[in-house]
Amino acid sequence: MKSILVLNGPNLNLLGLRQPDVYGTVTLDNIKAQCETKAHDLKIGLEFLQSNDEGALIDRIHKASASHAGIILNAGAYTHTSIALMDAIASVNVPVIELHLSNIHAREEFRKTSYIAPVAIGQICGFGAYGYSLAIDALLSYLEQNT
Ligand code: DQA
Repeated sequence: MKSILVLNGPNLNLLGLRQPDVYGTVTLDNIKAQCETKAHDLKIGLEFLQSNDEGALIDRIHKASASHAGIILNAGAYTHTSIALMDAIASVNVPVIELHLSNIHAREEFRKTSYIAPVAIGQICGFGAYGYSLAIDALLSYLEQNT
């Protein structure tokens, strides 16, 4: 059975409370439940994790090549700063979809720079929690065509 990793970065544990005007009122637990239901319906494995720690996210990406067919990554603010995360993705042979709840291209200038985009197979942003569902479909479609 295919298994995918959904990896969430800093401050996403505060979804629901955090800037609801930008990120909505859905919590990360709600999103996790939605992803798990979808994975169950699609008969795929899914692991859903969140960490505020850049090193922990990097460690998880390193291990993913042995355990998962692909990664959906919402790297939060590390998207705009972390060459280390970019290098981690470039170092493993696992396809990564970059995901954001908000449309990072319609916000502050600094959010338009992504260190994840050059090493991702694609980017989904601006669709709120529904983006996670879109990302699962996109990753499965990519895996069907490329593995
Ligand atoms: C985010 C966008 C980032 O710019 C921000 O730092 C986040 C959340 C999003 O999901 O819209 O933490 O990744």
